[in-house]
Amino acid sequence: MDPAFWLERWQRNEIGFHQAAPHKGLARHWSRLGLPRGARVFVPLAGKSLDMIWLGAQGHAVVGIELAAEAVRAFATEHGPLERVELRCGDLFDLDPASLGPIQGVFDRASLVALPPAMRRRYARKLAELSPPGTRTLLVTMEYDQARMPGPPHAVLESEVHELFGATHAVELLERDAALDDFPRFAQRGVDALAEAYFLLTRR
Ligand SMILES: C[S@@+](CC[C@H](N)C(=O)[O-])C[C@H]1O[C@@H](n2cnc3c(N)ncnc32)[C@H](O)[C@@H]1O
Repeated sequence: MDPAFWLERWQRNEIGFHQAAPHKGLARHWSRLGLPRGARVFVPLAGKSLDMIWLGAQGHAVVGIELAAEAVRAFATEHGPLERVELRCGDLFDLDPASLGPIQGVFDRASLVALPPAMRRRYARKLAELSPPGTRTLLVTMEYDQARMPGPPHAVLESEVHELFGATHAVELLERDAALDDFPRFAQRGVDALAEAYFLLTRR
């Protein structure tokens, strides 16, 4: 999946992944990270998600990274300058810890699952590289029968989360939530069971 895929989707406004409200599991689970107000939070593959605004409203200093200039422009136009939210335009895989700066938390929704398997391994390594020890990540995955629909979003099962992050993070499943009613386009494409799973990852 090369950058052109995503740039084209933004240019054509094919952004079915974008949600008109912060992700519903964010408010439910974020407190489990135990981060103080003022903690610096990273949002990889951020799109123009309202999750960044919600996190900023919790008092966090939010840094998002997004490949598509279109998305970054739209975010700025739709919200104007925001005190605690910085959305950078760039490639996550070019980011290094020095240019990101220290972070204490990460929110991943529709980021890991946006990527095909080989890139997911690269993504997990990059997240580990960017996360100092103790960093806590709230990860949201989607679980469904991949044979019924090609991604993205891709199915990422609990076993894969352990494979990807188990060597660098403590992995805790917080909740598995039936989600087919929330995402009707999955049912339209033949998926008959869908769950969102929420994980707390703590960097060792
Ligand atoms: C499925 S969308 C999810 C966006 C956001 N997390 C949300 O919930 O709306 C994935 C986003 O990642 C961006 N993206 C893909 N590869 C990227 C990369 N290597 N670096 C930064 N952003 C990337 C895409 O342009 C797209 O906006």
